[in-house]
Amino acid sequence: MDALSRAPDGAGVTHARVAALRSEAEALYLGTRPKTRAAAGAAAHLFEGVPMHWMTDWSTPVPLIIEQAVDARLRDVDGHSYDDFCLGDTAALFGHGPAPVAEAISRQANRGLATMLPSPDAAAVGDLLARRFRLPQWQIASTASDANRFAIRAARAATGRPRILVFDGAYHGAVDEVFVEIGPSGRTVNRPSLVGEPRDLSALTRAVPFNDLDQLEAALADHTVACVIAEPAMTNCAMVLPQPGFHEGLREITRRHGTLLLIDETHTLSTGPGGYSRRYGLSPDLFVVGKAIAGGIPAAVWGMSEETAARFKIARSNLPPGHSGIGTTLSGSPFQLAALRATLEQVATEAAYAHMEKLADRMEAGLAAILDTAGLPWHVARCGARVEIVRAPNPLSNGAEARRAHYPTVETAIHLALLVRGVLISPFHDMMLASPATSEEQVDHLISAMREVTGRLVG
Ligand SMILES: Cc1ncc(COP(=O)(O)O)c(C=O)c1O
Repeated sequence: MDALSRAPDGAGVTHARVAALRSEAEALYLGTRPKTRAAAGAAAHLFEGVPMHWMTDWSTPVPLIIEQAVDARLRDVDGHSYDDFCLGDTAALFGHGPAPVAEAISRQANRGLATMLPSPDAAAVGDLLARRFRLPQWQIASTASDANRFAIRAARAATGRPRILVFDGAYHGAVDEVFVEIGPSGRTVNRPSLVGEPRDLSALTRAVPFNDLDQLEAALADHTVACVIAEPAMTNCAMVLPQPGFHEGLREITRRHGTLLLIDETHTLSTGPGGYSRRYGLSPDLFVVGKAIAGGIPAAVWGMSEETAARFKIARSNLPPGHSGIGTTLSGSPFQLAALRATLEQVATEAAYAHMEKLADRMEAGLAAILDTAGLPWHVARCGARVEIVRAPNPLSNGAEARRAHYPTVETAIHLALLVRGVLISPFHDMMLASPATSEEQVDHLISAMREVTGRLVG
């Protein structure tokens, strides 16, 4: 039990208790889900039995098969319901199938789904994005991974510089060049888990620790870095929040060295209607948000400041006609535009965020009280509607600390024990989201299930 052997002393979390919690939950899961078990056996022609290989990363012994997802509730093929706090790892931040989005896409289905031409919604979507995120120029992509790739390309074109910089421990989607970390030697290396990557990614990508402005300054000093790509708070490891002054320093240093700042708000859209950037007054040169931005259908957007767009335009105009390396066939489709417009106009509203924030307050207070009562040296971190239990006593500073706060054995036992109690949280760490469709009763259910599970862990 690798990670547990590093578990904080004095917490009373023992190997035996974690194993008992896990095996009891596993027996209950398998014993009460005959159709789920049968479905797993039937998926012989899906690689690893699932349509996307990381669906096996959940805590369940066989994949949970969801028959229906509505609002913040799921029902599996065996008829069990779940209060969903994972919400498709943010893709369903605004609830599953928000009615305005469902209506807009069904209306659009009768008018054409993929034309490779703008629909009448296009200009309205541009206006809505500009007003909401306060950047003047926008493009549509199909995934946040694509949007990040395109924004990085635009940054390189605009600056004429080859390199990019990423914070150690961050994730920005399936963007090849970003899959680096700080290795044991202190140098940037390819992530060891990366499959099929023959290149040394450190040739063009530098990694520095989040919250470390001195290392950032040193890494930008040779003026070869086109852009820094950053989440405003790191959400893809145990949550790491920016320390006071970090964002001001990041902006000042990048400007001084002529490096563009690309803020990826795919997860931190949980912070407010204009993301973390609007709530806390950041001023990125490039901006990306995907996942929930079109209510759960595959769409992402990337925006540019006036100056970045002008520089990008000049760089493009200096090239011969042909492939730019930016764009995919279905990007900017009428289907995406209809869903984007409905989400921006009717779903991701101020009122929706007020509800999310209120429920996240309730979640944060309830979870913190559980940790306190149990005497566990863990804490609750929060980014608007995104709440997380972090297995360290104090706020984390960077990716290395986040890796040390990751206890896979404990986490999967907790996740499965919650799941058999009808509560679903993120499979990757203890992340929970509040949507506009989430109710107080659901939050109370999460808290009581977490209290029971935590009680079992500490005895
Ligand atoms: C911050 C961030 N950016 C980008 C992505 C990529 O999103 P997608 O997988 O939808 O392309 C993710 C996915 O988790 C993410 O967390």
